[in-house]
Amino acid sequence: MWPAALGRWAEIPICNLCLHRKRPPLIGDLVARGKHSQRKSKERSQSSNRWIERQRRDPYVAMAQVQGLPSRSSFKLKEINEFYFPHLHAKLEEKCKCSGSNRPNRRKLIQPGALILDLGAAPGGWSLYASTQLKLGLGGAVVAVDLLSLDETLHSCNSDITSRIRANLQSNFHFIQGDFTMNETRKRIMGAFANVSKNIQNNDSAGAIGRRPNLVLSDMAANFTGDSDTDAIRTLDLCERAMAFAAGTGCFNPSYSPRDGEGVLEDGGALLCKFFTCGRENEAELMDAAKRAFGSVHILKPKASRKESSEVYLLALDHRKKNAK
Ligand SMILES: C[S@@+](CC[C@H](N)C(=O)[O-])C[C@H]1O[C@@H](n2cnc3c(N)ncnc32)[C@H](O)[C@@H]1O
Repeated sequence: MWPAALGRWAEIPICNLCLHRKRPPLIGDLVARGKHSQRKSKERSQSSNRWIERQRRDPYVAMAQVQGLPSRSSFKLKEINEFYFPHLHAKLEEKCKCSGSNRPNRRKLIQPGALILDLGAAPGGWSLYASTQLKLGLGGAVVAVDLLSLDETLHSCNSDITSRIRANLQSNFHFIQGDFTMNETRKRIMGAFANVSKNIQNNDSAGAIGRRPNLVLSDMAANFTGDSDTDAIRTLDLCERAMAFAAGTGCFNPSYSPRDGEGVLEDGGALLCKFFTCGRENEAELMDAAKRAFGSVHILKPKASRKESSEVYLLALDHRKKNAK
């Protein structure tokens, strides 16, 4: 117990999306704060009150609690998968019919046999939702990456997200704790995909897929500094890095040739990536890169994403690597 600390519980950092504080306060946290921090803590408790009030009124937070989900983020991916994607796909199909070409018939972004890379996965909302959409028999698998462990942010909750995902995917779920921007972490990601592929071949599953992911998700957000412009630029940088990893750094070059692609995504694969709007000038490089490397590019604002937040999702479909003109 930490009776003296209870009054200052509101000062302990909270995950910006899930309901839970990252860990209980340690006496050291409170002692370490000198007198000069008292004014700041008053300000913080006001904003903390606003945050609690907003969480209380948020229907997605309530639904996430009722359904035992680790975060309200799951609803964003669900909406994109089950609502936005079918609409976009139908429109693209219509276009293809007019031009006489054929598109594979797909109803959802997450196909049952998909090989998914989930970047910025903690506390696990997207991985958990994706695991319910995949079928083991078809080789569906998720490799998830985060700086934090999946269950670290769920201290006050009894649910164990990793084992719930494993219940759906067994050994076809790999979690890598590390910084996605580091080479070491990227090597571990590729190693995990190689393992998934081996498992699939050993099980001799129907429709086994190759070693490359066909869907890269990034819900990564840089640690909030309190300055929204800085936060947006730092998160945009993470989004650009996810794009470069998925489609190859070459797509940021105006003379990009799809044949030179060196990214991890399979041909025809998709990228779904979060960023905070920060002006066309800042976003131009990302948008141009996406248009070079993908057949169609969309900016989505799911209903589950708070209206007052500048958060949006870039959905890039049909990665064109070798087949492009
Ligand atoms: C908004 S949360 C993700 C929520 C998650 N999609 C869900 O459904 O529960 C953003 C996550 O990005 C992670 N992140 C930020 N920078 C990262 C990096 N360089 N490498 C890996 N993860 C990172 C953070 O640790 C944080 O857990």
